[in-house]
Amino acid sequence: MTRPLGKKLAEKFGEEIRFFKGWMHGPKAVGSILPTSSITARRMASVVNPHSGLPVLELGPGTGVITRAILNRGVEPENLCCVEYSADFAAHLREDFPGVNIIEGDAFNLDKTLGAHKDQMFDSVVSAVPLLNFPVGDRVKIIEDLLRRVPHGRPIVQITYGPMSPVPAGRGNYKIEHLDFIIRNVPPARLWIYRRA
Ligand SMILES: C[S@@+](CC[C@H](N)C(=O)[O-])C[C@H]1O[C@@H](n2cnc3c(N)ncnc32)[C@H](O)[C@@H]1O
Repeated sequence: MTRPLGKKLAEKFGEEIRFFKGWMHGPKAVGSILPTSSITARRMASVVNPHSGLPVLELGPGTGVITRAILNRGVEPENLCCVEYSADFAAHLREDFPGVNIIEGDAFNLDKTLGAHKDQMFDSVVSAVPLLNFPVGDRVKIIEDLLRRVPHGRPIVQITYGPMSPVPAGRGNYKIEHLDFIIRNVPPARLWIYRRA
């Protein structure tokens, strides 16, 4: 028996459709009309050390393409903590990634958002929060805050669609590294790494 075309499309592109609906609902917070490509997600997850003994923090998981890449890297679900602003995305993530600690809240206010876990150290941070949609002072503050939550030398990896680092040099105690430019992403993306200087 053949399934109706609408159902087939919904099965194949369910994640993209959910993401696009999220973008229509909050274009500034979602920041992109399509999820990150799996190639980009894998490249971001490559900075994670699954054997460090520390959990990994993901910011802005959306529909979970980077979440999946982090888990595929060998991080146990209970060692992954994701902070997502959208209630709708957070609810779907809880269904799709059982065992992962999905926290609905604001990545710019982690002490409040992480609650009981606010003093937890993380191996690394993988972020897709659309930093360019926030004032530059807030971008510097979030990087400084995140670097207090990882051991010295461990990375914060951030995706962005502009040509420059969304967090400028010389505004705090961090150094910036250009990890990659990925053309196979819509739109093409740059990955930046921030570490303690
Ligand atoms: C560009 S989308 C990336 C989604 C997904 N990680 C991907 O790569 O396809 C940005 C995500 O960040 C979330 N977001 C935006 N502002 C946020 C904030 N202040 N705190 C936590 N998440 C936020 C959005 O809801 C959205 O899921």
